[in-house]
Amino acid sequence: VGDRVPAAILGASGLIGQHFARLLDDHPRFEVTSLLAGERESPVTLGSVWQLPEDPPRSLADLRITSVGPAALARSGVRIAFSALPSGVAGPVETELRRRGVSVFSNASDHRMDDDVPLLVPEVNAAHLRALARPGRPLLVTNANCTTTGLVLGLAPVWGLLRPKAVHVASYQALSGAGLEGVAALHTTDNVVPYIRGEEEKVAEESRRILGAASRGRVRENRVRVLAHCVRVAVRDGHLEAITVEAAARPALSTLEQAFREFDPLADSSLPTAPHPPVLLRTELDRPQPLRDRWAGAPPRARGMAAVVGRLRWDPPYLRFFVLSHNAVRGGAGGSVLNAELADAEGLLPFPG
Ligand SMILES: NC(=O)c1ccc[n+]([C@@H]2O[C@H](COP(=O)([O-])OP(=O)(O)OC[C@H]3O[C@@H](n4cnc5c(N)ncnc54)[C@H](OP(=O)(O)O)[C@@H]3O)[C@@H](O)[C@H]2O)c1
Repeated sequence: VGDRVPAAILGASGLIGQHFARLLDDHPRFEVTSLLAGERESPVTLGSVWQLPEDPPRSLADLRITSVGPAALARSGVRIAFSALPSGVAGPVETELRRRGVSVFSNASDHRMDDDVPLLVPEVNAAHLRALARPGRPLLVTNANCTTTGLVLGLAPVWGLLRPKAVHVASYQALSGAGLEGVAALHTTDNVVPYIRGEEEKVAEESRRILGAASRGRVRENRVRVLAHCVRVAVRDGHLEAITVEAAARPALSTLEQAFREFDPLADSSLPTAPHPPVLLRTELDRPQPLRDRWAGAPPRARGMAAVVGRLRWDPPYLRFFVLSHNAVRGGAGGSVLNAELADAEGLLPFPG
């Protein structure tokens, strides 16, 4: 393992787990040594269950997926766990891992609203990580719901300029947001489904928390009203969101465009999976589109990590625009990897080096 930190992927056989494997292959700081999923009658390797269009990472394709509990995983020397477990399953496993000294970076919703857990999108609320981390204590950090992530990334560059009173968002969410089992083809072919269980509530409460202020070890939710419509459409990857901000201030469109173009709060850090810039502004009338914009983000390790904003227009007091982000990368595995890189760079992971 050398000086890289031994890492595990929980839920490695699933959609987000496979994106984790792809993103952590040859990672400069973390080395995947364990892959875990549910119990099976006969053992499988990552390569044999692989479903993403690209080939599985060579360094991990032959690694066996096992099913050990938190105690055995902690004993194996793993120091950091990337969790892609289903909500409900994830909660107790993640708590137990942290108790046993393993820092956890999770995609699951179970701990997102816990008082002592940073709900983190590094370009938007890195201060929450600093405010809630306790020296020497293993971290439990979650990323946001995939739709929330795109929403707050789209809002962050102009938030201070607009002084929003309310945010309305309507999402057009990809099928992969529902994991490898997905949504039954008969529900989505020739159809649009105007309901995703629990999603609208998550978008509202998570974005208020992320946009809130952290002080004295606590996050105070932003009080802005967030009203979401969440809809499933027959797109493979990439959530598109139509955003309408009711604003108290009316900066010129050119000022807002400049704010989008200059936004890069992590510019001075050297986090390997951070996209620069993290939000791209398109001026074409028909962008962003999932098919064309889902893989936005540079350098190559950060492909799929940038959000793309377009159709920016004023209809005072309403500012309107679209944002697109890759649900399984920026809103999923990549978000957790970036969270871990930030914690590592800030010296908040309790292991040497
Ligand atoms: N899909 C997205 O765009 C997205 C975005 C953000 C967050 N998330 C969240 O990320 C998590 C994973 O989502 P996903 O889309 O990757 O789902 P998925 O494709 O259904 O994968 C779920 C994974 O969890 C494992 N698992 C299920 N039950 C288990 C158990 N009792 N014990 C151990 N492992 C178990 C599965 O392993 P088996 O092979 O054994 O079944 C599989 O590896 C969820 O919490 C989801 O809400 C998803």
